[in-house]
Amino acid sequence: MNIVENAIAKKGSLYGLGIGPGDPELLTIKAHRILTSVPVIAYPTMESGKVLARAIVADFIRPEQIEVPMPLPFSVDRSSQPYYDIAAKKIAEHLEAGRDVAVLCEGDPMLYGSFMYIFNRLSDRFHTEVIPGISSTFASAAMLGAPLTYRNDVLSIMPATLEAGVLRDRLAVADAAIIIKLGRHFAKVKAVLEELGLFTRALYIERATMPNQTIKAIASVVAEEVPYWAIVMIPSQTNPQ
Ligand SMILES: C[S@@+](CC[C@H](N)C(=O)[O-])C[C@H]1O[C@@H](n2cnc3c(N)ncnc32)[C@H](O)[C@@H]1O
Repeated sequence: MNIVENAIAKKGSLYGLGIGPGDPELLTIKAHRILTSVPVIAYPTMESGKVLARAIVADFIRPEQIEVPMPLPFSVDRSSQPYYDIAAKKIAEHLEAGRDVAVLCEGDPMLYGSFMYIFNRLSDRFHTEVIPGISSTFASAAMLGAPLTYRNDVLSIMPATLEAGVLRDRLAVADAAIIIKLGRHFAKVKAVLEELGLFTRALYIERATMPNQTIKAIASVVAEEVPYWAIVMIPSQTNPQ
């Protein structure tokens, strides 16, 4: 171990913990081991007050573990960067003191995960490990019973926050697609799907794998009621049998 490695070793380790889409049984054994052994657990809390990541693993958190809520704005843009600066600073204080910190991340940490912003701020200063999680995108395909891609199919994952024209261009060339971050963007997505003749192929799911999971015929979805935790899926049409 050289001097730099030795200095890092005395500090705590940072874990980006993928905790899966909602069902606590979809935690990996590794995520469970780290979650239950670290002294400090950090997790995002939304402006809306919702704390989904913590709720998923609530049964595994012990009273003696230190909890570090990370208040974050709902959307990630330039204005959200100070929130991540503050969260990273709080986490760094524990790491500097030699305490390992697990940052909970719903689904997989490296797929549109809030942990990535902590990773970008701290991974060059502290030993960091990212534990992959089951992404809501793939959990949704499983819950919908929808084979997603065959053979040479190309899958596109895209946020509903894109402008309608961009969504249209991306969806027009996709063999299969998953649209995330629906919420108030559902009506726009619906209009684009109708324009492309994809509406009848599209599937809809809310809160996949959670106790209140809901699967609806997409034509019956009321735009004003679509939550953030919802996905539209367009499975491949290729069916090799
Ligand atoms: C910021 S992204 C995070 C994705 C996450 N890292 C993953 O791998 O699943 C949040 C979006 O993921 C989707 N999502 C996450 N969990 C979900 C679930 N249990 N059911 C349906 N959609 C979910 C929603 O579209 C939501 O707007």
